[in-house]
Amino acid sequence: MKPIEIRPGIYWVGVNDQTTDLFEGLWPVRKEGVSYNSYLILDEKKVIIDLIKPIKTEEYLIGLESIIPLKEIDYIILNHLEPDHAGLLMTFSQLAPQAKFLGTAKASELISKFLKVKEENRFQIVKDGEILHLGEKSLQFFSTPFVHWPETMMTYEKSTKILFSCDAFGGFGAIHGRIFNDEIDSLEFYEQEALRYYVNIVANYSQRVISAIDKLTTLPVEIIAPSHGLIWRKSPERIVGLYKKWASYASGPVEKGITLIYGSMYGFTESLTDAVAKGIARTGIKYCLFDGARTHVSYILPSLWTMEGVIIGAPTYEVKLFPPVAAILEMARHKRIFGRKAGYFGSYGWSGGALKDFKGLADELKWKVTHTLEVQGMPDKDDLARAEEWGEQFASSLIKTCS
Ligand code: FEO
Repeated sequence: MKPIEIRPGIYWVGVNDQTTDLFEGLWPVRKEGVSYNSYLILDEKKVIIDLIKPIKTEEYLIGLESIIPLKEIDYIILNHLEPDHAGLLMTFSQLAPQAKFLGTAKASELISKFLKVKEENRFQIVKDGEILHLGEKSLQFFSTPFVHWPETMMTYEKSTKILFSCDAFGGFGAIHGRIFNDEIDSLEFYEQEALRYYVNIVANYSQRVISAIDKLTTLPVEIIAPSHGLIWRKSPERIVGLYKKWASYASGPVEKGITLIYGSMYGFTESLTDAVAKGIARTGIKYCLFDGARTHVSYILPSLWTMEGVIIGAPTYEVKLFPPVAAILEMARHKRIFGRKAGYFGSYGWSGGALKDFKGLADELKWKVTHTLEVQGMPDKDDLARAEEWGEQFASSLIKTCS
């Protein structure tokens, strides 16, 4: 995509990636895409803020060179060294021979050890709050550790009040043609993808996200330009507010609602799931249903992160919880999705085991298990009626304790 001017002398020069199947080797993005946003500032000094993942390198270089020869670049700002932003640094050390690399003290440690870029003499440490004058424009740097790695910082252009926030306030979702939030008719897709990105990538550092937002709270910001996803040109406080809310869910109250995850070997637990869902639906509470064996955990985590109730429906498999569902709980533990109210139901063959296994996993997650229901084999009409009632009771108990 061609460079797009954001403000006079400041350009988006990023690329969209619709070919990588798994972001970080883990999270599906083939369908939704992802953008690597890079920015170019022209003044007396010429600056690139963040590079891109080494993909579509030719397109990226042609875009930059259509505005300025790379050998004239004075500074490359490294807000973050993860390779989706700094993976081309070795290439740029050759193509932009006079450019200095700017980053935090922690970045100066990592640049040679992690990225194996040995030109330490070209790296310039910037301190928290330090200002770099470019001519009419000037950049101020703010250390924001662990949003998303320890070396991370954000860069603020003072004359235009643009905050280049790197991973913070970013989201999945390619930005084809329309790169600003005010160009999009419905933001539902991008906000959902921002939530998925938040929970998949950033959520483990939620306290650091809150600290970063608090630190920058008095900064007058007109545009938020992250390194993934839309640029927030209209009402940038919208994405800041969403991030603040999502970060608060790590330790505070979450939303009323139920994540219902099921797995089924021969359809018995699936029949129970239908009945349980019917019971939940009677109460009017929000719920999201996932087939745990066929839905990537990336899409389930946002629901687990944001909602108070969890119901697991899974059969016994070799005296344990059905493995695809157990794997989802393991990822929830990794993402520290603690303190939920939980229920379990499922079918077993000749002996149980899944319930006991689930209770152990729930303990590790600090989930309070309030309702359980087991059925041997194929559920009959009485079992289904019981499951429906059970679903309603779980949902009702949640409504009472949440409201
Ligand atoms: Fe977009 Fe932490 O990398």
